Order: sequence, then structure tokens, then C-alpha cells
Amino acid sequence: MPTDRLNYINCKCEVNVEHLKARDIPIVAQLYMRSFQNHFLGHMGQKFLMLFISEFVNSRGNFGYVATFKNEAIGFILASTSENPFRNFYRDNFISLVCLTISGFLKDAFIRKHLKEKFGHIFLALKALVSFSEGSIDHVEMKGGQPRLLAIAVDRSYRGLGIASDLTAEFCKEMKELGYEEAGLSALPWNKRAIRFYIKDGWKEEESTENSISFSRIL
Ligand SMILES: CC(C)(COP(=O)(O)OP(=O)(O)OC[C@H]1O[C@@H](n2cnc3c(N)ncnc32)[C@H](O)[C@@H]1OP(=O)(O)O)[C@@H](O)C(=O)NCCC(=O)NCCS
Repeated sequence: MPTDRLNYINCKCEVNVEHLKARDIPIVAQLYMRSFQNHFLGHMGQKFLMLFISEFVNSRGNFGYVATFKNEAIGFILASTSENPFRNFYRDNFISLVCLTISGFLKDAFIRKHLKEKFGHIFLALKALVSFSEGSIDHVEMKGGQPRLLAIAVDRSYRGLGIASDLTAEFCKEMKELGYEEAGLSALPWNKRAIRFYIKDGWKEEESTENSISFSRIL
């Protein structure tokens, strides 16, 4: 068992959950890559992920939470109340994102295999670029006003300790304080551990298709 996990259990230190800060971005990007090795974004590399994750720091409509142990990020949540959480991300970083995507395409077979499934995002990125001349883009609430949990991960060495629940509790608490009554998320059907976690954590299955299961939770 890794020493840090043993320390965590032995000293029964409470994990700290707080808003994601700029200083957490590099380590959260690494955690994202390690935790989402079967997902497209997990293959996009550190630079792409750092730009992506910074959209959840002090951002109107996007929310980031980080669980820290000994001042080191060991888990995170990315969430949004916005209908287009990535619009400013596409618009502000368009050229960098194109370069990083081409580089990923050339280097990584996973990106080559799955890029066509992301054409919807390419369309959204182009749309965001067109709106560039219109100046700053207003935050648009999710349809039905429901906050969405977009990603959650806990470092492999710290799983099974309740840290994921601490993170969702903080997210749900803030959403409730903001006046929302329900939150949603979706999971890939093969992600059995995450699905077990969501059910245990009070999320109710709403809809299931071959590619996605959606859950909601009363706040
Ligand atoms: C999803 C995640 C955040 C949950 O955190 P966690 O610390 O593992 O959560 P918990 O251990 O509290 O809950 C997981 C449940 O799955 C069970 N579980 C453990 N290993 C499992 C496995 N290999 N397969 C299926 N279930 C498993 C656990 O027993 C636990 O249920 P139980 O407490 O009733 O026994 C974490 O597993 C993770 O980071 N996964 C990688 C990233 C990811 O897939 N995120 C979700 C998609 S956005």
C-alpha cells in the first residue's frame, strides 16, 4: 500500500475539499490523464488539459473542486451550470487547440481512432470562433436549470476512502446554496466502479442507452 495512503488512513486527517485554484491546474491535469486513459480528453496531453481545466477556475457558470491531502490534489470535480460550458474555452484558445489536436492526431492512435466521434465539438469550436467578433459571450444556463457534474476522479491510491463523496457533497452544497434543486451527470455504461459509486452516493438512474446512463440527484 502506498505510504501516503497509509498516512492518510493512520492519521485520519480529514481531506480538504475546496474550489479549484490556478496552482492546482498542472497536478489536476496529470490526475485527469491517469484517471481517464480510456477517454478522448485523457489522451489530449498536459497542455490541452491545462487550458481545459483552467476554464473551471473562477469562471462564471463553470465550477471546479479539488480534494487535497498534505496540500497535494488527490481528487477533483469539474461541473457546470452553463448550457455551453466550453464555448469560451474554444473561442479563447482556438489556434492552440487546433495545433494540439493535430499534434495529438499525429502522435496518438487513440486520438486517430476516436476523432470522428468528436466532430460535434469541432462544430461547436467553429461556432464559438464565429461569435468572437460579437465580444464576450454571456453565460447561458443549462436547459431546465440543472447543474451538471462533467467529470470526477480520485487518485488511484486514494480510492475507496470516501473522497469522491466528499467532493460531490461540496458540489451539491454549493449548487443548493445557489438555488438549484437537482443536479445531473452521465456515465459510460462500462464504467462499473463509477456507476456503483453514483448509486451509493444518492444519484438516481434516469435514462439508459447503449452509450450513456444519465443520473440525477436531489440537492
Ligand atoms: C469514480 C471514482 C471517482 C469513485 O471514487 P472511489 O473512491 O472509487 O469511490 P468509492 O470507493 O467510494 O465507491 C466505488 C464503489 O465501487 C466499488 N468498487 C471497487 N472496485 C470496483 C471495481 N473494480 N468494479 C466495480 N466496483 C468497484 C467499491 O466497492 C465501491 O462500492 P462499495 O463501497 O459499495 O463497495 C473513482 O473510482 C475514479 O476516479 N475513477 C476513475 C475516473 C472515472 O471513471 N470517473 C467517473 C467518470 S466522470
